[in-house]
Amino acid sequence: MAREFSTVGVVGLGTMGAGIVEVFARNGIDVVAVEISEPALDRGRATLTRSTDRAVAKGKLAVADRDALHERVHFAVGLDALHSVDLVIEAVPEHLDLKQRIFAELDRVCRPQAILATNTSSLSVTEISVATTRPNQVIGIHFFNPAPVMKLVEVVRTVVTAPEVVADVEALCTRLGKVDVTINDRAGFIANALLFGYLNHAVAMVESHYAAREDIDAAMKLGCGLPMGPLALMDLIGLDTAYEILDTMYRRGGRDRRHAPVPLLKQMVTAGLLGRKSGRGFYTYERPGSPVVVPDEATPPATESALADGARAIAKVGIVGSGTMATGIIEVFAKAGYEVVSVARGLEKSATLREAVRTSLNEGVVRGRLAEADRDAALGRISWSAALDHLADVDLVVEAVVEELSVKKALFASLDEICKPGVVLATTTSSLPVIDVAMASHRPADVVGLHFFNPAPVMPLVEVVRTIRTSPEATATARAVCATLGKTGVVCEDRSGFIVNALLFPYLNDAVKMLEASYSTADDIDHAMKLGCGYPMGPFELLDVVGLDVALAIQRELYLELREPGFAPAPLLEHLVTAGYLGRKARRGFRDHSHR
Ligand SMILES: NC(=O)c1ccc[n+]([C@@H]2O[C@H](COP(=O)([O-])OP(=O)(O)OC[C@H]3O[C@@H](n4cnc5c(N)ncnc54)[C@H](O)[C@@H]3O)[C@@H](O)[C@H]2O)c1
Repeated sequence: MAREFSTVGVVGLGTMGAGIVEVFARNGIDVVAVEISEPALDRGRATLTRSTDRAVAKGKLAVADRDALHERVHFAVGLDALHSVDLVIEAVPEHLDLKQRIFAELDRVCRPQAILATNTSSLSVTEISVATTRPNQVIGIHFFNPAPVMKLVEVVRTVVTAPEVVADVEALCTRLGKVDVTINDRAGFIANALLFGYLNHAVAMVESHYAAREDIDAAMKLGCGLPMGPLALMDLIGLDTAYEILDTMYRRGGRDRRHAPVPLLKQMVTAGLLGRKSGRGFYTYERPGSPVVVPDEATPPATESALADGARAIAKVGIVGSGTMATGIIEVFAKAGYEVVSVARGLEKSATLREAVRTSLNEGVVRGRLAEADRDAALGRISWSAALDHLADVDLVVEAVVEELSVKKALFASLDEICKPGVVLATTTSSLPVIDVAMASHRPADVVGLHFFNPAPVMPLVEVVRTIRTSPEATATARAVCATLGKTGVVCEDRSGFIVNALLFPYLNDAVKMLEASYSTADDIDHAMKLGCGYPMGPFELLDVVGLDVALAIQRELYLELREPGFAPAPLLEHLVTAGYLGRKARRGFRDHSHR
């Protein structure tokens, strides 16, 4: 019969502990909540009150239920108060010696049959367990931040955890309304092992001034649909906690350099910039503990002021190419009121392209997203051509031809001859160095990357890529144009993968490596990222949509440019591509899609 948990203890009421107290008390379980001192206890109590008050304000919790919830929580200083609980969850800072000391003490204080659990993110549950005389009753119960919201719990069993303890904890998770995945004791478990390399990489981008914090966060939110950007997430996790997790993962997880904490992180922690909890991290908050970001000296001026930065006036735009991206980009510019000159290779291609744009605009009308008059006006703004000469008087050219360097270089050399001076020349390449394309013209200062996402009319993000030769005016122009298109333009340097792909694909590749190592299943890994981190799709779902061949090509580019050993494509990914299992388009990838 499953064990009854009527009273649980929570040790440490910081970012995680206070949330864990709330989870138990909300589900009718009495909680003994302990801290190291009275002031820390007061802070924990205040966090719980704020969180439940917010739930009441949002209509998610009745006032009577809130009051009952608080009555179930008994606050105390010191571990002695835990003498009669059925289970303890420890959520103190991520230091092995501290956790071991606490577990030795819990072993002494708690009843012999009590289960002792740690919420550690990266430390070895096994090493923590051997500080007690009951390692078979020690387990990891890893909640996600914020604990009351995130559905996932990783249940971590060591080689000595008793099977009935695992079963009892799994049943408890279900009672708490959580979805659990049970896994072995490995650094970072599932979610953090996949998350922290990505977070650290994002911090490295800030440190190297690759892109601004707002741009990195906007890129991942708008380009991948993530609930928050990596730097805002670092602030939520707490930079001190994140530092300790990375440091432990680096040491325990095979010294993967991608987990070696970026020096900036250590400096910020030392300077007391711990994220939301201290009121300042990558962003500045209204006050410590507040989620409200306030402007600071690094906040960029609003986009409207881009004109003041020398952005050039753009009225007429040339778009070269006739594929999927060109079709979408023509539509986007025409709908935004620009006069568009479309240039395709040959009259036949031009006619097909015209039909494709017309069809797409018609769909907008059918779906009620576009008025008929606006469709007609947009079509009226486009002229269709098969000759580059028609670009002689445009103010901006957007190139979206085939992804081959020789073709793009030849095109830019021609544009150099044809276009008037001062024109901004943009390439939509997603993988070639923009500087290679720029140097094919005699005006590299006017060349930028404008990386649209597919489908261009829908996706709200554009990466504006500046090379070491791009002028500030050309960058400002590109950014201002994005704003008039209703898109968010994020500026980054000219490196493989720009922001989104450089941060996204190594994470997907890591998920494949995790599967390959048989640490977990594709279903559990997908679950973990969706329910633990709020991702719209799990890595294997996403890989099947993107195409395994596309993912492999991007990962290879990243590896070749950065020579980072951790970026080496997963052998399993290569094998699946060789076998023709390319994802949905081939009806089979990581999953079988033949019946859908
Ligand atoms: N922050 C996250 O997003 C996150 C997510 C999942 C798991 N975790 C893990 O949860 C644990 C706690 O992390 P956090 O971010 O909540 O840390 P935190 O720094 O926000 O809170 C730690 C709390 O522990 C208290 N404490 C310290 N020593 C104590 C002692 N001897 N007795 C009682 N209380 C003590 C501190 O006063 C503090 O309130 C870590 O193991 C961390 O890896 C963190």
